[in-house]
Amino acid sequence: MAGRPDFGWIRFAPVVAAALFVGPPALAQDSVGRGQEIFKEKGNCQFCHAWHGNGDSSFGNAPPSLRTTNLNKEQLMEVVSCGRIGTTMPSFDTLAYTDDRCYGVRGTDIDKKDRPPVPQNPLTRDEIGAVADYVLATFVGKGEPTYAECQVFWGGGNSRCDPYKK
Ligand code: HEC
Repeated sequence: MAGRPDFGWIRFAPVVAAALFVGPPALAQDSVGRGQEIFKEKGNCQFCHAWHGNGDSSFGNAPPSLRTTNLNKEQLMEVVSCGRIGTTMPSFDTLAYTDDRCYGVRGTDIDKKDRPPVPQNPLTRDEIGAVADYVLATFVGKGEPTYAECQVFWGGGNSRCDPYKK
């Protein structure tokens, strides 16, 4: 054996490279990944719903948990597009309440104070679909938030995940 270089590992290199390239197997992974960025940054959903989707009650009016929601993809997209009338859930479709696309209601039909807030960054239909995919893949039916999930959201080693350590 001595003096003979061991190149056995080369046989595995393509397997490792392929695994890195393909990434974790999951349904609609691209859309879910994009959805996470939107949940975190562009839509700032985590500001109210928290990274874990259970909602942040620090300013009253805590939203219902996205982990126990019964809504399907279409219904999730409707809520994100139209918001919820009379609540702080924003309408992310720029055309919401300009016509009757949202719940059959026009902006002129509702009291100004009940009109869902217009968010800082509206979302395209595609982005709304991606964030709905993210909610379904990450929160719905997943039980209580875990340390591992927190690390995925905030990045490994983030100290705000410490409270979730067992
Ligand atoms: C300013 C705070 C705020 C932001 C930002 C926000 N939400 Fe909400 N959201 C709420 C509140 C409050 C409710 C509950 C409304 C009600 O009482 O029906 C809600 C409700 C929902 C619901 C309905 C859940 C159910 O089961 O009825 C979904 C889904 C949802 N939000 C997703 C999102 C997504 C996705 C984003 C980002 C694109 C987002 N929200 C951004 C406050 C917010």
